[in-house]
Amino acid sequence: MENQKFTIAQDGVDPNKVPKRKLYTGAEIPGIGLGTFGSDRFSAEDIANAVKGAISVGYRHIDCASVYGNEDLIGDALQEVMAGGMKREELWISSKLWNDMHGPGDVLISVVKTLKDLKLDYLDMYFVHWPFPNYHAPGVSVDSRDPDAVPYIHEKYMKTWRQMEKLVELGLVRHIGTSNMTIPKLKLLLRDAVIKPACNQMELHPHFQQPELFKFVVDNGIVPIGFSPIGSPTRPDRDVTPEDTVDIEDPVIVKIAKRLNVHPAVVCVKWAVQRGQVPIPFSIYRNEYLSNIQSTFTDPITDEEMEEIAGIDQNCRLIKGQVFLWERASGWEDLWDLDGEVKTWD
Ligand SMILES: NC(=O)c1ccc[n+]([C@@H]2O[C@H](COP(=O)([O-])OP(=O)(O)OC[C@H]3O[C@@H](n4cnc5c(N)ncnc54)[C@H](OP(=O)(O)O)[C@@H]3O)[C@@H](O)[C@H]2O)c1
Repeated sequence: MENQKFTIAQDGVDPNKVPKRKLYTGAEIPGIGLGTFGSDRFSAEDIANAVKGAISVGYRHIDCASVYGNEDLIGDALQEVMAGGMKREELWISSKLWNDMHGPGDVLISVVKTLKDLKLDYLDMYFVHWPFPNYHAPGVSVDSRDPDAVPYIHEKYMKTWRQMEKLVELGLVRHIGTSNMTIPKLKLLLRDAVIKPACNQMELHPHFQQPELFKFVVDNGIVPIGFSPIGSPTRPDRDVTPEDTVDIEDPVIVKIAKRLNVHPAVVCVKWAVQRGQVPIPFSIYRNEYLSNIQSTFTDPITDEEMEEIAGIDQNCRLIKGQVFLWERASGWEDLWDLDGEVKTWD
């Protein structure tokens, strides 16, 4: 990592211009964050450097996860940023509990490790990354099934959630949230939670708009955080299937990009912000993450264009979760409650 002193970039954006979203607690989350999943393609050093660069151009929200394997280097970057004068409370740092840490006592161990790596004494948001305790070894074949993998079991999820609630009580995390959930699972959680999720992280891009889940989340006072907002063009090979469509090649997105003289990726980010979700686009390239944050408050997409984009949804889920399937599951669709209810398996 370059070891230059952290400074605010002259050509960056004023973070006060970036839209914010209010959570039910009254806290405000910056309306765009930097993703930090390197998809096995980008090194931890490059990503940590991007975190520093992104904060220098105006980002105040960083989306981390223990499974991304780079929180220690991101922690070094955050130290440099704060040594350069940034106050901790100006930043919004999220992380996520990985699937192999859902067991009794594991959640506290996991958050403490993340806090140690990030060199922080609290997180703004801690998500349960997936609602399954199913673990797969790095690099495992997409078709393999772990013999210990299980379907969603609400009682077990609630035991994990109780541990998440405890972290709020302990002051280690300010908010807790869900990720990769469905309406039926969220209904059960909202029925049983003492501390409700403040955000739900979900796949959201023009070809995968999830309108029902989006509405459900918003109607229940939960802020949607949109992952893979550009359609994850650099996602790992294991997450690519022949049926997948490409958002940044969609003629409607390309047409709007030409009108605005920006890359189609920027239109995806702009659409996300205008629709009301918080996108967390990933990039290690300064020109890309800078144009992504600039797009949040400049040259809006017109109402007609927003309608056109609403019409190009392909219901094309890219992050299908195949590696988390249990032996009796028939396919990745089983993870997503497509029949409108959590299936009982016994
Ligand atoms: N909760 C979960 O389960 C979950 C799952 C997936 C992701 N996430 C989070 O969401 C973040 C973002 O998702 P993602 O990484 O899958 O995909 P993404 O943000 O949709 O796509 C990232 C790629 O888009 C390209 N890009 C970004 N900005 C661009 C610009 N202005 N112009 C041109 N190309 C641009 C870059 O590719 P090039 O290198 O080709 O330029 C970059 O590698 C992750 O990093 C992670 O933090 C969470």
